[in-house]
Amino acid sequence: MWVKKHLISMGDLSVNEITKILDTAKMFSVSDQSKIKTYDTLKGKTVVNLFYEASTRTRTSFEIAAKRLSADTVNFSAESSSVGKGETLLDTVRNIEAMYPSIIVVRHPLAGTPLLLSKRVRVNVVNAGDGPHEHPSQALLDMMMIRDVKKDFKDLEIAIIGDIAHSRVARSNIIGLKKMGANVRVSGPPTLVPKVIEKLGVKVEYDMNKVLKGCDVIMMLRLQLERQSQKLFPSKREYARFFGLNAERLKLAKPDAIIMHPGPMNRGVEISSEVADSSRSKILGQVSNGVAVRMAILHLLAGGGQLYENSH
Ligand code: CP
Repeated sequence: MWVKKHLISMGDLSVNEITKILDTAKMFSVSDQSKIKTYDTLKGKTVVNLFYEASTRTRTSFEIAAKRLSADTVNFSAESSSVGKGETLLDTVRNIEAMYPSIIVVRHPLAGTPLLLSKRVRVNVVNAGDGPHEHPSQALLDMMMIRDVKKDFKDLEIAIIGDIAHSRVARSNIIGLKKMGANVRVSGPPTLVPKVIEKLGVKVEYDMNKVLKGCDVIMMLRLQLERQSQKLFPSKREYARFFGLNAERLKLAKPDAIIMHPGPMNRGVEISSEVADSSRSKILGQVSNGVAVRMAILHLLAGGGQLYENSH
């Protein structure tokens, strides 16, 4: 039975709960259009996507996931709302809550926003990314991809490379993957990889070539220029030279190592097009898993009861 009311942080989930989400997502995953099924789990319920930051993958996949579970969905975008007239976040959310949604999926540039909301509202809250803090549904879909290919997390060597300092994806993945028994190493320029990250149980290595040796999974991160208030590396060209994943560098990893990236990608900066579009790249598979994982999250938060397929 599922008991958690909100999904805020990977730190809140036990090994059993992570496994339950991944197993449920597997049930929802489809390999092509003809296999798509819809269910009545969220019939009569409304899911509000409350996004204060741009998103392609997360917002779209939460919306598709909610619709496949028969929910009504509303997409709130801060730019076209009364936020611009000075309304506070809490007032905005209380007004939305007065319209009786069941689940609010929130993305906000400030770390801690989903946690704050979860303490102030009655409905279920899902963190869809809070500043540089956490992005649990992304970590879960990444973990689903890793489990799909590698079968188990135990003793896997996983390299997370790039802008660790600003990455909610890195933080959520590190917490989740370590819980499941994987070994995680991180790399990037010292200005983007704070030594304090070692407190999460990862190995820091500033030489990317060393980090790639013997790894099973390579997770490249986007260079988040919008979160950098000062210049933290000399140029994109130099960044690509020392920390970009290209075909030559990929030879250092295990021959069956897979390549992942949460998107959006800076092609030619943290990853070359040759690598991003290669057969070892799981980047679009991650996006497909995103719908299944988000269906699992919504289904479980709604009680995780018996699943009834809609008849067409
Ligand atoms: N990976 C991810 O969060 O992508 P979006 O910003 O497009 O949602």
